[in-house]
Amino acid sequence: MHQAATTSVSQTSSPYFEEEHSADVVNARMGQDISPRLKQVMSVLVKHIHEAVKEIEPTHEEWFSAIRFLTETGQMCNEWRQEYILLSDILGVSMLVDAINHRRPSGATPNTILGPFYVADAPAYENGANICLDGKGEPLVVSGKVTDIAGNPIPEAKLEVWQTNDDGFYDVQQKGIQPDSNLRGVFTSDDEGRYWFKSVKPRHYPIPADGLVGKLLGAMGRHPNRAAHLHFIVTAPGYEPVITHIFTPDCPYLPEDAVFGVKRELIADFKKVDDLEVARQVGCAAPFWSVAWDFTLAPSVSAMRVIATKHSDLT
Ligand code: BEZ
Ligand code: FE
Repeated sequence: MHQAATTSVSQTSSPYFEEEHSADVVNARMGQDISPRLKQVMSVLVKHIHEAVKEIEPTHEEWFSAIRFLTETGQMCNEWRQEYILLSDILGVSMLVDAINHRRPSGATPNTILGPFYVADAPAYENGANICLDGKGEPLVVSGKVTDIAGNPIPEAKLEVWQTNDDGFYDVQQKGIQPDSNLRGVFTSDDEGRYWFKSVKPRHYPIPADGLVGKLLGAMGRHPNRAAHLHFIVTAPGYEPVITHIFTPDCPYLPEDAVFGVKRELIADFKKVDDLEVARQVGCAAPFWSVAWDFTLAPSVSAMRVIATKHSDLT
């Protein structure tokens, strides 16, 4: 009976493991009544993992060191530290998933990586406030407009901003050292879509590199530095939220940002202002830096549906 069972199955559809058809053997085991999405995801993953293993031909020792790496990466994760997200970041996967999910019309401000240092309940400020509470760094004035793709102002847009201090750390990385909520705040665009606030010129800083991801970066001959940036989340009803950064143009790490977060369109023009009268008008000591940056929001998917329905009503 055993013999009959084996002979009745052809070479390629054999249920038994063969190096040549290894991925097919594994994928053929999948049940019929399972989620089609899970079936797609698992069969693609199995196919590509088997291809990679066939190309790499790891020794047992190498395979166990990969397992150890993944085990220790998981062991580093806790409420404050997500080493797997960091791994996805340095491999460019976080940016790829973001790009796939935020394909925007031309002219809209592009997204980039969120990062682990966003805090949802930062203090709300009036336009013009200074978010730098530790007095370190070169003064910066940030101003601009929030508009739609046609250039119409979006009043009441919410702008959440956060950045590192001049020592290269976020407030949440230095509790008790930096003032709480240092260099983070929430602003609201005015009737003409304008916003403005004071801060300090951001500088480059390393991502947390004291764990497995730091070791891997070192082993790959890569540094952990992120190009200098300010983070923003800009939201307004009816528009797709934008999670993004603006980058300083003079940072040496722009072309080699550790998490591939730089997009050419997000490099801003930071100008040094020496004029004492202008400094007096904005309430800054001279010299100070100034950056003008406009955010252009795309309609949200549900707003697009309403527009499409209205359009089809007319035709
Ligand atoms: C950040 O920009 O804050 C960041 C992004 C990815 C990993 C670590 C930090
Ligand atoms: Fe950052």
